[in-house]
Amino acid sequence: MSDPDWKNRVNRVVDASDADAVRREYDDWAPSYDADHLGFGGSLLTHFVGMFCRHVPRDAAPILDAGAGTGRMGSTLSPHGYDNFVGIDLSQGMLDIANDKPGYIAVHKMRLGDRLDFENESFAVAASIASFAPGHAGREAFDELIRVTKRGGLLVLSLRAGCEAETGFDARRNELERLGHWALIDELPDFVSHPEVDPPLRYGIHVYRRL
Ligand SMILES: C[S@@+](CC[C@H](N)C(=O)[O-])C[C@H]1O[C@@H](n2cnc3c(N)ncnc32)[C@H](O)[C@@H]1O
Repeated sequence: MSDPDWKNRVNRVVDASDADAVRREYDDWAPSYDADHLGFGGSLLTHFVGMFCRHVPRDAAPILDAGAGTGRMGSTLSPHGYDNFVGIDLSQGMLDIANDKPGYIAVHKMRLGDRLDFENESFAVAASIASFAPGHAGREAFDELIRVTKRGGLLVLSLRAGCEAETGFDARRNELERLGHWALIDELPDFVSHPEVDPPLRYGIHVYRRL
């Protein structure tokens, strides 16, 4: 059963003013993050897992989990046969929990939006759940995710929807497609992911092939 204070913890993250504040709030939230998420936002994980399993071969490795948090991606997908997840996140508190989850071979504190400390084409897949949103990772991080993904590999990205004026996600991903950096192969463009939050949050899930 989730703690009724979860809404306050969500609001503190949503209201965080800059990357340092976001990092501090997630460090504080880390111990109760998984328990809180039993009570809300489940449809984002469900739709993400559906899209991921539809497109990613089970032997694809390694897989970059961008904004890994406590490692819900690896722990949910490893029973489906996926392995070799590498998690990156701003918050060391969240990564410390991910590090003990099934599926992860490494976690690193890195900020999406900065240059990532990986060689070109290091990953078969780059994926992200709930980390691209206002105040969180921004559209400027797409180029680095593309750089570290192998040519022909996949990017499975959940992006907050319904706030294009703030994020510019759609404009940038369309521009990257026009520039020939990636090609859209599937998407659930816009659905209510967190009906429990007021106003409800929306996400899209977009699957790209790296060109
Ligand atoms: C809503 S949580 C999602 C965590 C995890 N992917 C999940 O589905 O449970 C957002 C995560 O993004 C991280 N984050 C926010 N902005 C970031 C950035 N610019 N670079 C890296 N991580 C970031 C936060 O620290 C937090 O762990």
